Amino acid sequence: MLKEEVLRLKREKNAVILAHNYQLPEVKDVADFIGDSLNLSMEAARTKADIIVFAGVYFMAETAAILNPDKKVLIPDPGAGCSLASSVSAADVLEWRRRHPNGVVVAYINTYAEVKAVSDYVCTSANCLKIIEAIPSGRPVLFLPDKYLGLYIKAKTGREIDIWDGECHVHAKITSPKITAKIKLYRDAEVLIHPECGCGTACLLELPKMGLSPKFLSTEGMVKYVKQSPARRFIIATEVGIIDRLEREAPGKEYIPAAEDAICEYMKLITLDKVHRSLKEEIYRVVVPEDIAKKARLAIERMFEFA
Ligand code: 13P
Ligand code: SF4
Repeated sequence: MLKEEVLRLKREKNAVILAHNYQLPEVKDVADFIGDSLNLSMEAARTKADIIVFAGVYFMAETAAILNPDKKVLIPDPGAGCSLASSVSAADVLEWRRRHPNGVVVAYINTYAEVKAVSDYVCTSANCLKIIEAIPSGRPVLFLPDKYLGLYIKAKTGREIDIWDGECHVHAKITSPKITAKIKLYRDAEVLIHPECGCGTACLLELPKMGLSPKFLSTEGMVKYVKQSPARRFIIATEVGIIDRLEREAPGKEYIPAAEDAICEYMKLITLDKVHRSLKEEIYRVVVPEDIAKKARLAIERMFEFA
């Protein structure tokens, strides 16, 4: 069977498979570690394996390669992109820096290595508030590339920040009317929202008026939250792949997607078949040139201080 063959190859080659929460169940079944962007990057930094097969999108595998220049980092399908990461380039960042010589650039982890290399900090949805709050007031800040996450950070911290006009096409369609419609159908449900969602600040302001206190969480934050919550039902506003992880970690509860069509086609490019081929043929290797990796590593390591 393919699954057994993957497990055998992993042992034989001293390889690990790291899988993002949005991956297909068949891929999660062979993973050594499943998590959000922050936990996956920390796991990539600490692994003793010789080969890392990254079951996720390209910028995630690139982050693992930056943190492990001496290891073989493989992505089963190099076409696994990200609409958000593609929305900003290093030249865009340098242009902002030229206009703000004293400025601080905070890049969401959903960016390519060249962008990380010209940024001061990398952050994820799990630590973005802490990082922005630690920047001395008076220094101009650019947050990129997600405008919804940026607006959420601005609303929560009260900090004046420049926000890049990018979005994730999957999360952008999870709007406030869609969430409100689900709330009307499931009045007893708790509402968990990924801050990349298009509803962002509207939900932050409007849902409390309906007597609700939505929780804004990274995907791993959602896993932790449902485990300890006494609630039996949750409306989940993020990519639907997280629901399988929630069912694995906290079974017996009901998870209702805020939008059934919130499916990241890039994440779904990674299949068990491709993971098997990747391990067997040791393809497709992700390599980041050392001059870029060195600078990007600094910005990622600054993030780890806030983990
Ligand atoms: P997290 O898993 O870090 O919450 O991020 C979600 C995401 O969209 C990854 O691309
Ligand atoms: Fe990128 Fe959106 Fe897919 Fe996440 S869900 S990988 S942000 S396109």
